[in-house]
Amino acid sequence: MPLIAILAGDGIGPEVTAEARRVLDRLDLDLSFDEALVGGAAYKAAGHPLPPETLALARRADAVLFGAVGDPDCDRLERHLRPEQAILGLRKELGLFANLRPAKLFAGLEDASSLRPEIARTIDMVIVRELTGDVYFGAKGIRTTAEGLREGHDEMRYDEAEIARIARVGFETARTRKSKLLSVDKANVLETSQLWRDVVIEVSADYPDVALSHMYVDNAAMQLVRDPGQFDVVVTGNLFGDILSDQASMCAGSIGMLPSAALDGQGHGLYEPIHGSAPDIAGQGKANPCAAILSAAMMLRHSLDKADAADRIEAAVAAAILGGARTPDLGGTLTTRAMGDAVIASLG
Ligand code: NAI
Ligand code: MG
Repeated sequence: MPLIAILAGDGIGPEVTAEARRVLDRLDLDLSFDEALVGGAAYKAAGHPLPPETLALARRADAVLFGAVGDPDCDRLERHLRPEQAILGLRKELGLFANLRPAKLFAGLEDASSLRPEIARTIDMVIVRELTGDVYFGAKGIRTTAEGLREGHDEMRYDEAEIARIARVGFETARTRKSKLLSVDKANVLETSQLWRDVVIEVSADYPDVALSHMYVDNAAMQLVRDPGQFDVVVTGNLFGDILSDQASMCAGSIGMLPSAALDGQGHGLYEPIHGSAPDIAGQGKANPCAAILSAAMMLRHSLDKADAADRIEAAVAAAILGGARTPDLGGTLTTRAMGDAVIASLG
């Protein structure tokens, strides 16, 4: 029986994860669950945001269902003890190099998008973001120049193996959709991007059925708000992916609707809503659990080979939204629990 590690975390993390768990329980999928503390909750109980038991459970489990970390009580701690280090540590320790971020507008939520409804309606894309390399993990620091000036530096780097493996995830993802892959880089200026483009083209030889195209990141940012419907699957590096995926998610409506997956390429993954712990609404039953519920659906599809159950959950969320179920972020009055109930009722 597959084991799911539930790492609910801080703030609204436990509230939304509880609803995802209720949806999974309702489907009778023969899953077992084990929970562990992470983030500020773990720091307060055990003195570290990612205790060894938590990491061990995440490794042992077939998949991790993650809530969110972040706790205002921990803001003054040294960086390595902050709750947010837990999610960075999990990605690194578990080798979760591929971040899938679908962004689509659910029918009925046109008014929630920052784009005009007729444009917002066309968004239905997946960003495949590299997650364990790039400028985030290169040499960095603040040093003093010969002239006595402080100088910050962060090295951007990718080797060809890192590029090839994320490119393959991009091509494979494209095959499950429209067989179109757009690679986003800044090859007109950056050598790292030139290598990126060269390697993506080399890998494309193995995917003759997928139409590959390229775009510079600045143009991609513009096109995303001009005509999001032109995008289907986008593969890009860590920094560009960070920025473009946040931009895409806002085009698609509330942050409370969007799930994500972080994958190791061998079926193991961590699934989480894209939002954080939302301390401003924590404990008030106001959080939208749909992003967490949709993350559970991604887990069933990508780690547990249960695509039918994933489809059922996604259809139930769409039906609940179309039927008018709305938490406050969507302009409604439902509590977190009531939104979970609406999704469960739509499971049929
Ligand atoms: P946030 O995503 O927690 O909240 C941003 C805004 O969106 C807030 O107004 C919040 O109320 C609202 N919001 C978020 N999720 C919602 C939901 N499900 N339903 C309704 N409204 C929702 O981002 P913020 O405020 O920048 O960060 C809060 C904490 O979360 C920080 O400690 C941050 O470091 C952490 N964080 C953790 C992440 C993770 O665990 N992967 C990701 C992003 C932030
Ligand atoms: Mg971000």
